[in-house]
Amino acid sequence: MTKDTQLELRKAFGAFMTGVTVVTAYTADGVEVGFTANSFTSVSLEPPLVLVCPSRALTSFDAFNTCESFTVNVLAEDQQEISNVFARPIDDRYSQAEWHKDSLGNPVFSGVSAFFSCTIHKRVDAGDHMVLIGEVLAFEVNDKPGLGYANGGYFSLGLERLVAEMPRASRPSHVGAIIEHENCVLLTSTQAGWRPPEVKIESRAGSLLKLRDHLLLSGISVQFGPVYAVFENQVGEYSTYYRGFSHDETSGGIGQYVPVEKLDLINFASPAIADMMKRWVLERKHGVFRLYVGDELQGGVHAVTAGEVP
Ligand SMILES: Cc1cc2nc3c(=O)[nH]c(=O)nc-3n(C[C@H](O)[C@H](O)[C@H](O)COP(=O)(O)O)c2cc1C
Repeated sequence: MTKDTQLELRKAFGAFMTGVTVVTAYTADGVEVGFTANSFTSVSLEPPLVLVCPSRALTSFDAFNTCESFTVNVLAEDQQEISNVFARPIDDRYSQAEWHKDSLGNPVFSGVSAFFSCTIHKRVDAGDHMVLIGEVLAFEVNDKPGLGYANGGYFSLGLERLVAEMPRASRPSHVGAIIEHENCVLLTSTQAGWRPPEVKIESRAGSLLKLRDHLLLSGISVQFGPVYAVFENQVGEYSTYYRGFSHDETSGGIGQYVPVEKLDLINFASPAIADMMKRWVLERKHGVFRLYVGDELQGGVHAVTAGEVP
């Protein structure tokens, strides 16, 4: 298969919407390991079986190839940061989240939607991955909605539903993103002032893909997070902003990366954008992001957990 076909295939695989899990275990020396996985599938009720597919390229592959048990943590919609930590090459991943050991000694994160503690049922070689089938010995579930993943970006059903249920006239006509890269945020200069990159859209369908393609044309590939703000401007147009991360240094022809600590010196294109950016800086500091829905002057901030969304 050519590199191009492989990229297309990866994109096609990514069209399948999934939840997000972090699969955990420990090495023979007792060191905790884990990786973000969306290959999780429930397989059988009797006996209770699940599967997940670790890549042979994982730094922890040997541990998953030899461990006697593993645990699947189904991440809740406000746990995108945990997903990112376990999907990136970060030292000491377990210092970044609250966790405890389950009955098998594997890490379980606080606040997950569910977890499954499994002993090994079978390992199956499968190309560049392994199919790891586990028998569920213990599990827990709570009513927190899960984090979603599709087309290379996260989504949260609670928030998507909230935006989709907004009155027809209030459908967004611009879609943008607050894109972070190493303590900097990508901003575009306009006549009115600076703002995060955005594109004009005719309909909500595929709006995020349109923004993604626009950024890709400038060499910026972005991992999108949940919706962050939806607001109407003075001329009745709606803007929807997502959060996002880029691994690329380049800001292409889009604008420039501005250090987060310099954002309070920036002249933003509108009061709504200035307020949004101020809120983003504050919430980023505390690691808790909320969704704003309203107009330029007034609106409400909603917790990202669907239980609190009206
Ligand atoms: C949403 C998402 C799903 C993923 N699913 C899998 C998966 O099912 N199997 C896998 O091996 N890697 C998967 N990955 C990639 C690994 O999480 C990533 O490569 C991780 O950094 C590997 O850990 P390592 O750095 O210790 O090798 C996924 C990444 C993301 C963001």
